[in-house]
Amino acid sequence: MHLRLAVFAFGLVTLGALATPAAQNPRTQWDAVYTAAQAEAGAALYGKHCGYCHGEDLLGGGFGSALAGPDFWANWDGKAAVELVDRIRNTMPQDSPGTLSRAQSTEIVTYILQKNDAPAGKTALEAQPAALKLVTLRKTK
Ligand code: HEC
Repeated sequence: MHLRLAVFAFGLVTLGALATPAAQNPRTQWDAVYTAAQAEAGAALYGKHCGYCHGEDLLGGGFGSALAGPDFWANWDGKAAVELVDRIRNTMPQDSPGTLSRAQSTEIVTYILQKNDAPAGKTALEAQPAALKLVTLRKTK
């Protein structure tokens, strides 16, 4: 019985993988998953809502932690982009959480990724959780 269930579940997973269009294949932020315009919008939001705690250079030092470099990657390497967007959307800015939209939080994440050397591309990073789940954050390529 258990074996049959397992085989059935495996079949579903396989079908799901086959049904996924190429454009939605799992990617990392090294695959040019956001646009320069998105990161620019994110930079403006960051300057207004985040920089006074996390530092204009994202390296922390003030009240907030570093959002670039080894300290940041110690927490985020291997996580899905959706987790970072949700973390920002639900808990930041720390003095007024929940005030930024999902789209704005996504723009800020593209700026954070840009500052961590990820390349911009032609397609914007979609703010929907289903799309953000498919982008894994990786410290190195
Ligand atoms: C009032 C100060 C303050 C502001 C404004 C603020 N943060 Fe934070 N942030 C913190 C502090 C302090 C921490 C560490 C404690 C915690 O995790 O809540 C933190 C943690 C974080 C983390 C988790 C870092 C990690 O490595 O786990 C992220 C991501 C983050 N902030 C992003 C942002 C973004 C993006 C904004 C702007 C929308 C923002 N923060 C605004 C103070 C702030």
